[in-house]
Amino acid sequence: MIIPIEIDTNPYEIIVLPHLLDEIDQYINFSNRTMIITDNHIPTIYIEKIRSKIKNASIYTITAGEESKSLAVYEAIMDRLLKSNFTRKDMIIALGGGVVGDLAGFVAATYKRGCRFINIPTSTLAMVDSSLGGKVAINMNGVKNAIGTFYQPEKVLIDLSTLSSLPKRHFNNGLIEAIKAGLLGDKTLFELFVTDQYHLRLEEVIIKAIYVKKKIIEQDLYDQNIRQVLNLGHTLGHAIESYYKGEILHGEAVALGLNYVLSSELLEKLDKILKNMGVVLDYPFHYKEILPYILNDKKIDNDEIVLVKVDQIEKPYLISLNQEELLNIIQGE
Ligand SMILES: NC(=O)c1ccc[n+]([C@@H]2O[C@H](COP(=O)([O-])OP(=O)(O)OC[C@H]3O[C@@H](n4cnc5c(N)ncnc54)[C@H](O)[C@@H]3O)[C@@H](O)[C@H]2O)c1
Repeated sequence: MIIPIEIDTNPYEIIVLPHLLDEIDQYINFSNRTMIITDNHIPTIYIEKIRSKIKNASIYTITAGEESKSLAVYEAIMDRLLKSNFTRKDMIIALGGGVVGDLAGFVAATYKRGCRFINIPTSTLAMVDSSLGGKVAINMNGVKNAIGTFYQPEKVLIDLSTLSSLPKRHFNNGLIEAIKAGLLGDKTLFELFVTDQYHLRLEEVIIKAIYVKKKIIEQDLYDQNIRQVLNLGHTLGHAIESYYKGEILHGEAVALGLNYVLSSELLEKLDKILKNMGVVLDYPFHYKEILPYILNDKKIDNDEIVLVKVDQIEKPYLISLNQEELLNIIQGE
C-alpha cells in the first residue's frame, strides 16, 4: 500500500508492506554513503537486510530509550558524519521507534543544513504517529523536544513484520495512538478495537490510523490550528507522563488523559478495549501534583488550558479552560 503525503513543499510517500525490508532496494534510491541510525534493541537481522542491499552503509547504534534524544548523542553522531566526509547528498536512515526517528530526523535536518532522510519505523507508535508529520527533535535540561524543527523525510517505509519482535507493552502503547486516531476521524478504525479484531487486522489498523493523521497534517503542517486536535488526551497525558517520568509510556499516559475528555459512552468502550488489550494503568495522581506540569506545557497560552474533547466519534472540538474549570473536570464536577 502506498500512501501519498500531499504537502506543497515536500510531498512524499509512506509505503506499508508485510515484508518490505526483503526488497528494500526497490524503494530507495541509495546514495554514495548511507548511515543507518538504530538502537541496541532492534534485532540485527533488520539491519543486515538493509546492509545486504547497500554498499558503503555505516551503522550508528544508540542506547535504546528516551535518554538518547540528547545533545550528547546528537553531537557524537555529527562528529562521526563530519569525520567520514558525509555530504548533503548522502542519506540518513532511521531504523527504530520514535526515539531513533526523532533523533535521526533532527540529525538529517541539521547536518550541513539538511541531508537526505528515510524513516523506517519499527514500533507501532512510530508507524502510526511519530514518523508522520515531520516533527523531529531532541530533549534538553529535562524538557522534551526542547530543540527541534520540522523536516519531512524522503520516504517512510513500514515493514509490518518488524512488529513481531516489539515487546507487547510497547506494541499496545502505540496502538493507543491508533485508538485516538479512530476517535478523531475514523469510526470503523475505533470499531476494530471495540470488536477486538485489531490484532487480526493490524495492517488495516495501521493504514487507517495513518490516514487520519495524514488528513490533519496536510491541512496544517506547522501545527498552527487544526493539528491541535491530535492532542486529544495529551494535555493531561503529557502532565501524567512527566509526573511518572520513565515509569509510564506515552500512549499509556494518553489513555489516562482520555478519561477526562470523552463522553461517558465512549469512555465505557475505551475501558473495555484497554481491558481486552491487557493495558494496565495503575498510576494514581492528585490534581495538585500534575498541575505544574500542565502549566509548563508548551500548549498553554495566557493561563488558558486548551483541551480537545470528543463527545461524538469523528467530531473533535476544542475548549479553553482556566485552572478552576480544569479542576472541576478532573474531579468529575
Ligand atoms: N515526532 C513526533 O511527531 C512524535 C510523536 C509522538 C511521539 N514522538 C516521540 O517518540 C518517542 C517514543 O517512541 P516509541 O514509543 O517508538 O519509543 P522507542 O523508540 O523508545 O521504542 C520503544 C522500545 O521498543 C524498542 N523497539 C522498537 N521497535 C522494535 C522492534 N521492531 N523490535 C524490538 N524492539 C523494538 C526500542 O528499542 C525501545 O526499547 C518519544 O521520544 C516521543 O517524544 C514523536
